[in-house]
Amino acid sequence: MLAVVAQSAVAQTGPADPVAGERFAVQHCASCHGDTGQSAAPNFPRLAGQSEMYLVKQLQDFASGKRSSPMMKEKVALMDDAMVRSLAAYYARQKATHTPSTDRQLLAVGQFVYERGNPWAGLPACQSCHGADAHGTQQLPRLAGQHPTYIANQLRKFHQAERGNDGVAMKFVTSRMSDLEVNAVAAYLGNLP
Ligand code: HEC
Ligand code: HEC
Repeated sequence: MLAVVAQSAVAQTGPADPVAGERFAVQHCASCHGDTGQSAAPNFPRLAGQSEMYLVKQLQDFASGKRSSPMMKEKVALMDDAMVRSLAAYYARQKATHTPSTDRQLLAVGQFVYERGNPWAGLPACQSCHGADAHGTQQLPRLAGQHPTYIANQLRKFHQAERGNDGVAMKFVTSRMSDLEVNAVAAYLGNLP
């Protein structure tokens, strides 16, 4: 943490450097997040094609403890602010892929939830914030193609208030979701190109 604070004055001046980000990523991130941000294990999030500003915010939140993850806390301690921005720039430029699913019925439920929510339970449509294609915005994460296991895990964490670095939006959303809706929307999003 001290290193992060001490170097932040320098960091403000330099541009993000995706090449330096790649070098650092190969050494420190690839074992879990894959060579180009395509994590092999479904409980590690894909980072390829993720929104650049969202990535910066998550790394800052891991560092400040606003988002807790023992694995990531250890990693962010190795980065200064310039490297946070360089890593985000690198991963945001990698090609996104997806996690195909053939369970048509589950996908149909997931599509309904994503596009229309559940009006009978007061669940808002995900697309109202995350966008019709789920490709993310500057602030909001790309969800298309993300591992369904990771998505379902995060939804549970928001619900149980183990993750609250988004403010209150996702806690409210997940308080209205059934297990079927969680797993269906996770499958639907994972399958989206
Ligand atoms: C030992 C495995 C491991 C390593 C190595 C690792 N991570 Fe992670 N990373 C995780 C896990 C697990 C999560 C999900 C944490 C959670 O459950 O909230 C995560 C989450 C993230 C997220 C949040 C993604 C999202 O969609 O919200 C970012 C960004 C990230 N890691 C970047 C990195 C970077 C950059 C490095 C290298 C400096 C790195 N990670 C190294 C395991 C790892
Ligand atoms: C009112 C706006 C809003 C709605 C509606 C909404 N979200 Fe979110 N979502 C957010 C915000 C804000 C974040 C977190 C940004 C951050 O951490 O900085 C987020 C984050 C997430 C994440 C974490 C992604 C990651 O990479 O870790 C998932 C998964 C997610 N939302 C799924 C959903 C699903 C599924 C729905 C519909 C059932 C939904 N969201 C509806 C605002 C919304």
